Amino acid sequence: VGNRFSYPDLGLGLGLRANHYFDILSPNRESLNDDVQWFEILSENYMQTQGRPLYFLDQICARYPVALHGVSMSIGSTDPLDIDYLVELKALQTRTGAKWVSDHLCFTGAQGRNTHDLLPMPYTEESLVHVVSRIKQVQSVLGARIALENPSTYLTFTSSTMPEWEFLRRMADDADCALLLDVNNIYVSCTNNDINCGDYMAGIPWERVVQLHVSGHTNHGTHIIDSHIGPVIDPVWTLLGEAHARSQASVLLEWDAEIPSFDATWAEAKRARNFLAKALA
Ligand SMILES: [Fe+2]
Repeated sequence: VGNRFSYPDLGLGLGLRANHYFDILSPNRESLNDDVQWFEILSENYMQTQGRPLYFLDQICARYPVALHGVSMSIGSTDPLDIDYLVELKALQTRTGAKWVSDHLCFTGAQGRNTHDLLPMPYTEESLVHVVSRIKQVQSVLGARIALENPSTYLTFTSSTMPEWEFLRRMADDADCALLLDVNNIYVSCTNNDINCGDYMAGIPWERVVQLHVSGHTNHGTHIIDSHIGPVIDPVWTLLGEAHARSQASVLLEWDAEIPSFDATWAEAKRARNFLAKALA
């Protein structure tokens, strides 16, 4: 069972989306406090901006615990880390009182070009040393441990010398960072790359997992796209239950495209409770 360092178990939460602001903050919504336990904030939506987004964010952070989740750290890139970005991220953490900051194990560009995609890294001794030194730099700027998320992948590098779970374990140990485990990404990557999900789950250092992601995906038959659309399929819920039983980490439903009403999104998140209870039993 995990220890989550000093990070709290926030319970069951939702990714904050702009089209839900009014629902969340509506005075008729008092019962919401008994339901949604926390929100995950997409960091970049509230950076380099003033006005409307921060107006809503401040009110939500006054009522709910939050964690920050980013897509622009590019921890795996060979470009220098963007220190201005990290300083602004730290300011956002202070402003929101976020319990922790996460990003993805990936790179988003190279040689100054940004693809805006979360690109997978080769898992080698060289890339391990590289990413560990960058995580240490980030943690020293933020003054806190960060959590990195396992990516969803569609290919593997022939140059990789270790499986993803071994890379995650060694990276987290060497950098002394936390992990955000996305069980849908495990399902997507294992299916696309013909890897056994059980082997992946068995290799996770659960004591470092502080947060879990769960989401829907789009199955095209020959491959699965990590679309974050729609209902979560039962095998992914089952993985979530297992991951939660092993880590006791905070759970978050991501829904990023074709976003339905707040009530429908939250109804999907609440389905997690059945699977968490079943796994514990
Ligand atoms: Fe995720």
